[in-house]
Amino acid sequence: MRRIITVAGSLALLVGYVHSALINPIDYNAAPPNLSTVFNNSIFYTWRPKAHVLPPFGAIGDPCMHYTDPATGLFHVGYLYSGDGGNSGAAGATTDDMVTYHDVSTDPMFIRAGGINDPVAVFDGSVIPAGINGTPTLLYTSVSYLPIQWTIDYTKGSETQSLAIARDGGANFTKLTEGPVIPGPPFPVTNVTGFRDPYVFQDPKFDAALDSTNGSWYVIISGGLHGSGPSMFLFRQYSPVFRDWEYLGQWWHEPANSTWGDGTWAGRWGFNFEVGNVFSLDDEGYNTDGDIFTTNGAEWSEIPIIPQVSQFREMLWSSGNLTKAENGSVTYEPSMAGKLDWGVYAYAAAGKILPASSAASNKSGAPDRFISYIWLTGTNFGTSDFPVDQQGWSSSLLTARELSRGTIENVVDNELVNETASWRVIGRDTSSDTVTLSTLKQVIAREARTAFISNATRTFTEPDRTLSTNTNSTSTNTAFSQSPISKFFMMTASLTFPSSARTDGSLKAGFKILSSAHESTLLYYQFSNESLIIDRSNSSAVAAITPGILTNNEAGRLRLFDIRDSNGTGNGTAVETLELTVVVDHSIVELYANERFVLSTWVWSWFETSTELAFFHEGETEVVVGNVTVWEGLVDAWPGRS
Ligand SMILES: *[C@@H]1O[C@H](CO)[C@@H](O)[C@H](O)[C@H]1NC(C)=O
Ligand SMILES: *[C@@H]1O[C@H](CO)[C@@H](O)[C@H](O)[C@H]1NC(C)=O
Ligand SMILES: *[C@@H]1O[C@H](CO)[C@@H](O)[C@H](O)[C@H]1NC(C)=O
Ligand SMILES: *[C@@H]1O[C@H](CO)[C@@H](O)[C@H](O)[C@H]1NC(C)=O
Ligand SMILES: *[C@@H]1O[C@H](CO)[C@@H](O)[C@H](O)[C@H]1NC(C)=O
Ligand SMILES: *[C@@H]1O[C@H](CO)[C@@H](O)[C@H](O)[C@H]1NC(C)=O
Ligand SMILES: *[C@@H]1O[C@H](CO)[C@@H](O)[C@H](O)[C@H]1NC(C)=O
Ligand SMILES: *[C@@H]1O[C@H](CO)[C@@H](O)[C@H](O)[C@H]1NC(C)=O
Ligand SMILES: *[C@@H]1O[C@H](CO)[C@@H](O)[C@H](O)[C@H]1NC(C)=O
Ligand SMILES: *[C@@H]1O[C@H](CO)[C@@H](O)[C@H](O)[C@H]1NC(C)=O
Ligand SMILES: *[C@@H]1O[C@H](CO)[C@@H](O)[C@H](O)[C@H]1NC(C)=O
Ligand SMILES: *[C@@H]1O[C@H](CO)[C@@H](O)[C@H](O)[C@H]1NC(C)=O
Repeated sequence: MRRIITVAGSLALLVGYVHSALINPIDYNAAPPNLSTVFNNSIFYTWRPKAHVLPPFGAIGDPCMHYTDPATGLFHVGYLYSGDGGNSGAAGATTDDMVTYHDVSTDPMFIRAGGINDPVAVFDGSVIPAGINGTPTLLYTSVSYLPIQWTIDYTKGSETQSLAIARDGGANFTKLTEGPVIPGPPFPVTNVTGFRDPYVFQDPKFDAALDSTNGSWYVIISGGLHGSGPSMFLFRQYSPVFRDWEYLGQWWHEPANSTWGDGTWAGRWGFNFEVGNVFSLDDEGYNTDGDIFTTNGAEWSEIPIIPQVSQFREMLWSSGNLTKAENGSVTYEPSMAGKLDWGVYAYAAAGKILPASSAASNKSGAPDRFISYIWLTGTNFGTSDFPVDQQGWSSSLLTARELSRGTIENVVDNELVNETASWRVIGRDTSSDTVTLSTLKQVIAREARTAFISNATRTFTEPDRTLSTNTNSTSTNTAFSQSPISKFFMMTASLTFPSSARTDGSLKAGFKILSSAHESTLLYYQFSNESLIIDRSNSSAVAAITPGILTNNEAGRLRLFDIRDSNGTGNGTAVETLELTVVVDHSIVELYANERFVLSTWVWSWFETSTELAFFHEGETEVVVGNVTVWEGLVDAWPGRS
């Protein structure tokens, strides 16, 4: 998704608002007005997150162009941005701790559209940290014609790939005065559905498979072929100054609109790939000796041609192997695939290696990591009527995640494990009748999680509790003994289910959050379709009168396996415990489960009192909820912004 909606926001308007708001404050204890009719910027602070990456004002688009500057060790987080005066391009911030961020400059935009190669737009790109003359060097999609959509004919020359070099510590990227270094899709694969989002990388497995010089740079460009399906196009560095790139074929191609397995665990491959990343992970993090993983967006629709609109976008990951064909080309075949985030508004993930030598890792002692940022669109990709001008900003990035190879041990070898799914069997022990599974592990960046805990202004635990028919959704004794007094907190909990839960079709167990007499959001697991659900139907009193406050349920699939008794004394099994972590940052809700599932969305609660927490349970089966801890306060990720 490359559209960024221009927002009226400007610093001058914001200053004006703060003044008028003092005179006429918004009343969060009374029913909301129609927010589409209030002054521009007047609800700037109503839902503003504080611990997330987003620009000072205006709309954020795809994350991209991240890198660690070898000269400073600072990690640069980039994102597409449309700022003041309708300028568009990319902006960024630096971090030395993965907790707090500093805009690269007062105007954080470091590259603007409007040059000879990119008269119309700057789309996603990626950075070679020590590129030309050892300086961070950006390879990005330079755009000359719009519209571009997989649903319409492709305009030749619309997406090319060009270079720019960092100046002023990354506050400015200066475009090279030369034409695009990759001028378009190579003949004969020119009838593409897209050709953008270059991702640069080095990988010894590619060097070996392609007989390349060790340490060669490669780039994959995402897109697809009309009538054939989504693809990633592979190129190899040819000249030392990155001026020429040699085309090595379609590294990955899937049939149009096909799925991984039956589609249950990884949606559809769709018609067009976007934002493809490829990297290697081991159990600790980034390691070129590890397994190959990818992340990519996939676009598809129910009906073939809706000009300029993609109905659905999947944010996927996969892992697999390279295969060398007889003609010397290399292709990729997944052995497992899943969703990086199940939220329908979470898309366009951009990851980057965060080396152990970076400033943040130096402090935390982390090894080489692969960090991914995901976009959360607040306007359903520009299609909803959300009151963007009234808010003065739009969309956000989600909390940075660390990706690594996950392992699930002692899994009973039964019908739950043998699917084409988001895990694969990597070991089988016939004596204990168990298997070991491999999957993608996803956790909140360790420094951020630690800071949410250590910087909490209030921490409280809730006694363990057994949820039963006596504590179902209609009873009154479900409230927590303490609740947050704000809408900024992290909560953890362990839910333990008996085996009978698997056949209890009416069982739902979880929590009510951001709750008051007027509003509440349910967050629960149900075995009937192995799903975690965020029910937003009663989340916002604003939704009834203001257009664009979407209330659809968000859902994602998580399988809880049967685990062999860890004490190893018998043949007993137990349902894997559901380990939840919930981050609530004002309007952003991120639900993490078992280090392998994430579902992120918006919850636009209105009332100041909508901060209560409660247990939620329906059905006959008893569920034990333990280890409930709430850390209230989160962090201020932007100490340099006033
Ligand atoms: C509010 O923002 C919109 C969109 O930029 C603009 O057209 C409109 O003039 C602004 N209204 C005021 C009162 O400034
Ligand atoms: C970067 O610097 C160049 C040269 O001074 C200037 O032309 C360009 O506008 C600057 N770019 C940004 C985004 O400020
Ligand atoms: C590209 O493919 C589309 C859809 O199959 C077709 O309509 C169009 O004619 C093709 N364009 C070219 C230049 O081959
Ligand atoms: C893609 O496949 C889905 C599932 O079969 C189907 O509903 C949809 O219509 C297909 N899309 C197109 C454009 O054929
Ligand atoms: C790659 O292939 C080897 C040999 O078939 C297999 O053992 C390994 O599990 C595969 N790795 C991945 C990530 O699929
Ligand atoms: C799963 O697959 C393995 C290997 O093919 C097989 O040995 C095992 O019996 C299967 N388990 C079930 C429950 O189908
Ligand atoms: C929920 O609790 C209410 C009141 O305690 C009770 O009447 C109702 O039967 C319970 N429903 C379920 C599904 O357990
Ligand atoms: C709220 O205001 C918007 C913009 O004027 C309008 O389109 C919408 O119908 C209004 N909603 C209601 C319930 O009046
Ligand atoms: C082994 O674990 C199971 C389930 O976790 C438990 O029911 C059983 O009592 C344990 N056995 C011993 C000897 O601790
Ligand atoms: C576990 O099950 C196997 C096969 O049913 C049986 O031979 C064995 O005795 C059982 N072990 C225990 C400790 O019950
Ligand atoms: C709480 O967490 C600990 C450590 O992870 C675990 O051993 C314990 O079983 C959990 N308690 C409950 C009630 O889930
Ligand atoms: C952590 O808390 C301290 C003390 O309240 C505060 O000074 C600091 O700004 C907080 N850090 C962040 C990142 O919010």
